[in-house]
Amino acid sequence: MRIYDVIKKKRDGFALSKEEIDFFVDGYVKGEIADYQASALCMAIYFKGMNLEETTNLTLAIRNSGEILDFSGVDGIRADKHSTGGVGDKTSLVVAPIVASLGVKVAKMSGRGLGHTGGTVDKLESIPNFNVSLPKAEFIKIVNDIGVCIVGQSADLAPADKKLYALRDVTATVDSMPLIASSIMGKKLAADDDVIVLDVKTGSGSFMKTEEDSVRLAEIMVGIGKNAGKKTVALITDMDIPLGRAIGNALEVKEAIQTLKGQGEEDFKTVCSCLAVEMLYLSGKGDREYCQKLVSDVISSGKALETFKNMIKAQGGDQRVVENPDLLPTAKYTRLVKAKSSGYINKVNTEGYGLSALTLGAGRNKVGDKIDYSAGIILNKKTGDYVEQGDVIATLHANDTSLFEKAEQILLSSTTITEQKPTERKLILARIE
Ligand code: URA
Repeated sequence: MRIYDVIKKKRDGFALSKEEIDFFVDGYVKGEIADYQASALCMAIYFKGMNLEETTNLTLAIRNSGEILDFSGVDGIRADKHSTGGVGDKTSLVVAPIVASLGVKVAKMSGRGLGHTGGTVDKLESIPNFNVSLPKAEFIKIVNDIGVCIVGQSADLAPADKKLYALRDVTATVDSMPLIASSIMGKKLAADDDVIVLDVKTGSGSFMKTEEDSVRLAEIMVGIGKNAGKKTVALITDMDIPLGRAIGNALEVKEAIQTLKGQGEEDFKTVCSCLAVEMLYLSGKGDREYCQKLVSDVISSGKALETFKNMIKAQGGDQRVVENPDLLPTAKYTRLVKAKSSGYINKVNTEGYGLSALTLGAGRNKVGDKIDYSAGIILNKKTGDYVEQGDVIATLHANDTSLFEKAEQILLSSTTITEQKPTERKLILARIE
């Protein structure tokens, strides 16, 4: 078999066989297939798509490229959640400790930022000394002791995804349904969880821009999860507006801490609690109404916050950030972005907001770029708010003032102000099971 022929077959719109998909994934992991050939195949998949059988075969090839974890050392039900990627999406930082506080184990492997979206691992690394690469025995011990541990994807877990993810990030091939579904589910199936809750984002800040595509992606992923014997549910959640008010790593950790303290933004709280309820419900903790009550109780009692603090401590981080978030990295400079006209913020291009934060240093332009954990944006106004000309709509945070100009430009051109008040969008658009 030659990779040239596999690329050509997909380029011409034909379905690839299991053998061809295995040949590609195996050869790419071993370094026998070059990055430029893998890029060409990803681009062919981007344009020609894959049917469910091909997508399932790609998922299994990604899962089988590395170690399939054995979590039998973890006591009790194990549940995981995964987001398809969004802007200001710090839900894992809140949902994981909530669920763990209620006796469901969360042994979580998270990713780094991708394109304009942020990643949980980068956010956690903004906490001084937080360690996201622990030996397996320690990882399992922390899950058993505290209920939750969040680490990065180990080199042994789905190495094919690690290579492909980094390649797609820099070759404009992220937002492809079969590539996203196989990337997420390849990793999820390599981890030994009983329950998987998928947060499939939809709208201008997500990789799937339309609700129809997001539902289709969710159906594919739920189908793959169920075929693999996992209880799998997906929520389609709105990403036409950044979640909460903070975008950028340390700023988002601060917002997550506020939320665990029962403060914070309604939209973010709602999405977190809906995801937590699904995880608890599928783990057999009771009906949804009861699970909702459990979630509210662990937040108001401070138990979820305590679990987050214990996790930070167990993973070597400075747990004092919970009481004193000012110990998180703080940017030297801020700039206020002001409205150019009066009216309602009618809509925002959320991807543009993500790119504006990336410009300030909160994300990567290419593989290996260093992140500035303190950089990012606080949204003083959000979609639906009325602003007078000159009102502050956002505060930019950076350590280099020369970055402000471009970031401000991107943010303003991503914000539409009109006389008309926008119609309210639902936060949770659908549930796919
Ligand atoms: N998250 C992933 O893990 N993979 C993707 O391809 C997109 C989002």
